[in-house]
Amino acid sequence: MGEEMELVLDKYISAGRILSEVREGAIELVKEGGSLLAVAEFVENGIREKGGEPAFPCNISRNEEAAHATPSIDDKAVFGADLVKIDIGVHIDGYIGDSAVTVDLSGNNEGLVRASEAALNEAIKLIRDGISTVEIGEVIENTIREQGYKPVVNLSGHGLVRYNSHAPPSIPNVKYEHGVILKENDIVAIEPFATDGAGKVVESGNAEIYSLIKAKPVRVIEAKKLLEELKKYQGLPFARRWLPRERLDLALRTLKNTGALREYPVLREEEKGLVSQAEHTVIVKKDGCEVTTG
Ligand code: CO
Repeated sequence: MGEEMELVLDKYISAGRILSEVREGAIELVKEGGSLLAVAEFVENGIREKGGEPAFPCNISRNEEAAHATPSIDDKAVFGADLVKIDIGVHIDGYIGDSAVTVDLSGNNEGLVRASEAALNEAIKLIRDGISTVEIGEVIENTIREQGYKPVVNLSGHGLVRYNSHAPPSIPNVKYEHGVILKENDIVAIEPFATDGAGKVVESGNAEIYSLIKAKPVRVIEAKKLLEELKKYQGLPFARRWLPRERLDLALRTLKNTGALREYPVLREEEKGLVSQAEHTVIVKKDGCEVTTG
């Protein structure tokens, strides 16, 4: 292996190690009456203290929400008897680890939690140089269906490349037609979602997460300042609550109007079914794979 490749893989591995430490700490904080904002801040500050950067805002999605929920500024929400998905991204120098876990605070959804975990484990067992993403999607779908649930068809695993938290290939959670062959040293995130609903997510509610997609010149001074501030994320998603508060609405609205921002509205299950998620990032190896976020 080239020296440069080795350095890059080391960064992926370090990002993954930081991620698993903060994830374990976060799980302890997810309990009834606990604050969602406190969990998000624990995760994001913990990542920075350990020498990484959040690759995206800590997602805390509950019950029928599958992804892209994150606390707002001064959010007062607390956990109830919820099914809680914590999805965390860490990067070092742009090299990302992405991992999620489901915490069942009601104690009634063990089977649903197990379905996405089992699907993730079965997928990880298959991954090696030469595997097709079609086979991965098939084992995920079959495992979830065997447990009596449905995979979410329009959420997928994905590749990871420097400063891109959702790079090709897409790795669907169902069997599909045209796959991609994974090769040694590819970095991919596998993230099965299982549900007792329709098996599909739809957009709902306002976005708290954005990314900068096109930096177009703006005249409004607040927007200009915000645009400069946002460049440091290098295209990775950020939370509204991370931004300077002064005249934030105006600045964000102006940037949105120029088409500079991508918004990430909350994704919820179409029939409001419960959703569980399990996710790890892996490095594809000749005869298997290395889980960086384990
Ligand atoms: Co992911």
